[in-house]
Amino acid sequence: MHNLLIMPAFAFRWTLVFVLGTGLLAMGCSGSGGSDGQSGTDPHASGTAHGSPDVDAGKALSPEAAWKAEGAAVVQPFKASLMGALMEAMPNGPQAAIEACRLKAPGLPEQAGGATWTLGRTSHKVRNTGNAPSAWMQDFLQAYRAAEPGDLEPQTKRLEDGSHVYVEPIRMQGICLTCHGPNLMPAVSEALAEAYPQDEATGFAEGDFRGMFWVRFAPEHEPGTHANASL
Ligand code: HEC
Repeated sequence: MHNLLIMPAFAFRWTLVFVLGTGLLAMGCSGSGGSDGQSGTDPHASGTAHGSPDVDAGKALSPEAAWKAEGAAVVQPFKASLMGALMEAMPNGPQAAIEACRLKAPGLPEQAGGATWTLGRTSHKVRNTGNAPSAWMQDFLQAYRAAEPGDLEPQTKRLEDGSHVYVEPIRMQGICLTCHGPNLMPAVSEALAEAYPQDEATGFAEGDFRGMFWVRFAPEHEPGTHANASL
């Protein structure tokens, strides 16, 4: 709070990006292009028109839609915590934010996990080697890398052991360039090199596929039963 008051312009930009970013991710980057993006000025219109099919979720949803809804619900607080940690630290400079990410991000999947699910982030180019993809994630990463940016949508799949997985693509936004872009400030490069000597997560451009959130539900997990995690 205090920091926001000291650096209003900076904070404003972050808040804006946060809002836009959350919106984009929440929409799952729906591929239904050609919609009237500019004209959505009436909140009631979109709220009621699109809200009703979801209300009686439990029974009306196809299994695939139910797993997608479940995965999205599990990812949401995790995503918000990561963005919150970044926003809180960025007013103190990117180096402080790197430190905050380094200390906070790796612990969040544990906190957001439940008795019957695990979750995390991964990428074809990781910064933290602890986020390296496991075998089942490779196909999704490959498909997302090959897809057009407008076609990046969440996916689900049943694995051979009976568990269900959910993945949600993450795209680069302007805000991410500071630490994942092609031209880093020297101080940022140095801080990253020190904390992550094997860092591969630079050189991305805005709009690029950056990686994905993933959730793996144990075979006994039923969609619709996750406890509402709040981090
Ligand atoms: C202040 C620097 C900074 C900014 C800005 C930043 N990140 Fe990161 N990012 C990091 C650090 C540090 C890690 C490693 C965290 C860890 O140790 O788990 C990371 C990890 C990740 C990971 C996990 C996979 C990996 O490479 O280990 C993804 C995905 C990611 N960032 C995406 C983004 C996106 C998308 C944005 C913009 C919304 C963003 N980052 C903004 C510093 C940053």
